[in-house]
Amino acid sequence: MTDKFDDDIPAIVGWHKDSYPFVCVLMLSDTETSIGTETLLKKGNGEIIGTPNPSKGKAVVLQGGLINHLAPKPLGFTERITAVTSYRAKNPMTKDCSVLRSVKPEVNFGSNFNTFYPDWVNYRMKLVAEKCELIKNEIEKEANEGKTFRKEDWMQSLKDLENYVATTWKEMVVTNEEYARAL
Ligand SMILES: [Fe+2]
Repeated sequence: MTDKFDDDIPAIVGWHKDSYPFVCVLMLSDTETSIGTETLLKKGNGEIIGTPNPSKGKAVVLQGGLINHLAPKPLGFTERITAVTSYRAKNPMTKDCSVLRSVKPEVNFGSNFNTFYPDWVNYRMKLVAEKCELIKNEIEKEANEGKTFRKEDWMQSLKDLENYVATTWKEMVVTNEEYARAL
C-alpha cells in the first residue's frame, strides 16, 4: 500500500504519540471490504510497519506513548471506528511516560476539568505512595540483611520520585500557544 518510508499517507489520524504509555485499539467497523485498516507504526530507523490487519472485534495493544503511529484512511472504506483504551504499567517502579499534551481540558473540550484533573492527580499520587512504600521496604530489608547501603542507587530512586511529582504539576501547565490554538 505504501513505500516503507512513505510519510505522505492519507490518514484518519496522522502521525502522533499518545498521551499514555500503552493503548488497546479495538476495531469496531466491518473491515471485510477495506484494504489498509491496520495501524501503522514508525520504527526508530523511519521504516513504517503495520499491525496485523484487524477485523471487527480484534484488538492490538501498542506502546502508543513511545512509538509514532498513524491510523490510515483505508481503500474502499466506509468507516473506521475504533475504541481506544489507555493503560500504564501496573508495577509502580516501571517508567510511566504519561503526559497530558492534547487531552488537557483547556485544549480538549471533551475532557471535563472537574473530573479529569482530580483523576490525573489522584492516580499519580497513588503511584507515588506505592513507590515510597517499595523504596522504604527495600531499604529496610537490605539493612536488616546487613547489606551495604546502595547510596547512588537510592539517590537515583529519590530523584526519579521527585521528577515524577514534578511532571504531575508541569503537565497541568497550559502555555499561551496552547490557549491560542484552543480558541
Ligand atoms: Fe494514537
